[in-house]
Amino acid sequence: MLALDQVLPPSATVTSQGHLSVGGCDLVELAEEHGTPLVVYDAGALRAMARTYREAVARHAPGGEVVYASKAYFGLAMLGIIREEGLSVDVASGGELHAALRAGFDPARIHLHGNNKDAHEVAAALDAGVGTVVVDNLHEIALLEREAAARGIRQRVLLRITPGISPSTHAHIATGQSDSKFGFPLAGRMAHAGVEAVRRSPHLAFEGIHAHLGSQLFDLSVYRPAADVLAGFAVEVGPGDITTVDIGGGLGIAYTADDRPPSVDTFVETLAEAVHDAWRAHGLPLPRLVTEPGRSIAGRAGVTLYRVGAIKPIEGVRTYASVDGGMSDLLRPMLYGAVYEPLVANRADAEPTEVVRLVGKHCESSDVLVGEAHLPPLEVGDLVCVPATGAYGVSMASNYNGQRRPAVVFCENGASRVVTRRETYDDIIARDVL
Ligand code: LLP
Repeated sequence: MLALDQVLPPSATVTSQGHLSVGGCDLVELAEEHGTPLVVYDAGALRAMARTYREAVARHAPGGEVVYASKAYFGLAMLGIIREEGLSVDVASGGELHAALRAGFDPARIHLHGNNKDAHEVAAALDAGVGTVVVDNLHEIALLEREAAARGIRQRVLLRITPGISPSTHAHIATGQSDSKFGFPLAGRMAHAGVEAVRRSPHLAFEGIHAHLGSQLFDLSVYRPAADVLAGFAVEVGPGDITTVDIGGGLGIAYTADDRPPSVDTFVETLAEAVHDAWRAHGLPLPRLVTEPGRSIAGRAGVTLYRVGAIKPIEGVRTYASVDGGMSDLLRPMLYGAVYEPLVANRADAEPTEVVRLVGKHCESSDVLVGEAHLPPLEVGDLVCVPATGAYGVSMASNYNGQRRPAVVFCENGASRVVTRRETYDDIIARDVL
């Protein structure tokens, strides 16, 4: 039993050689074969999480829809699993739309998001026949109306609302408050004006509302007041006119052994009860419920492997251990102060007796992966595994300092396959024109 049991993928075990294994694959062998940094997913865990969501929605909100927020990780193999499991997909850009279409999604199951969709993105979405556009502002409604009219179609839309409810999470990932770049605030009747604009258009079909309160939420108490506000709005808009309520994603995951996020079932039950109770209390017919999880599907299934290079003990200060990646493949510690708990994959059963600062190789002092990493005494060449990096790791990766973005490997039942190859140096300069 590993101390990080709830943080590592469910299939993680330690082999008789003391190596960490995921999906039945020895991580030390994978790192040797594919190099580092390397992102490894437990593909079975991805599948299981998608299924868990689908089953929870079937149980607590029959007829509802689970829409995977692809921003968390939009590799084609991942999208393939999501498609096979019968989930829909949320895309927030032309690039994510392209990936979803290439992964074979039925366009009717694609939801287009974004606070500044441009004309090309809107045109591409309509040409593909996406099922739902979540409209964010009046400018976009005018643009969508024009493009839909030009094609002679009627596009289904949800209106994104900020209910004025702030969840307890990092300010950078809170979105429910009125002071937000996303959506129509209820304040000043801006959301009412949004509904009117949609209704005026013969080419837009108003189906309902969308509200994403924030991300990495453990405290789900915000959903009741939010649902109450949304139901009040639904009454004002016209009883029965809002047939779909998309309450967003947001369920948090454990990044450290002390984190205790609610289960998927509790999350979905809480959302469903909040919306159903609020709708009933306002005398409204129950809407179809949609949820849009990203992190809680992809996060725990992925780990990132790094090779330890320079180790620098500074007498009376601390020890710095540098690895061969950093903020180019895992930005979250720098952006949100996110805390991770690493372990040594080649001595996974060794006691963590030392505290070191685990840093990347970028030319930035802030390139700190783990400020206080509790690890066994490190040696050059050790393989460090950072768990719970499956969401918002690869999808926020960059080429800073000319770093090649990592390969991604899926493991399941002892078999591994590369689903994204490591970049080459030529990839990095491929778009430059001399
Ligand atoms: N729906 C909408 C409209 C969203 O904006 C998001 C996340 C989601 C769904 C999915 O939320 P999730 O279930 O993953 O919490 N880069 C940040 C997270 C940004 C979240 C952005 N929106 C991070 O690494 O923590």
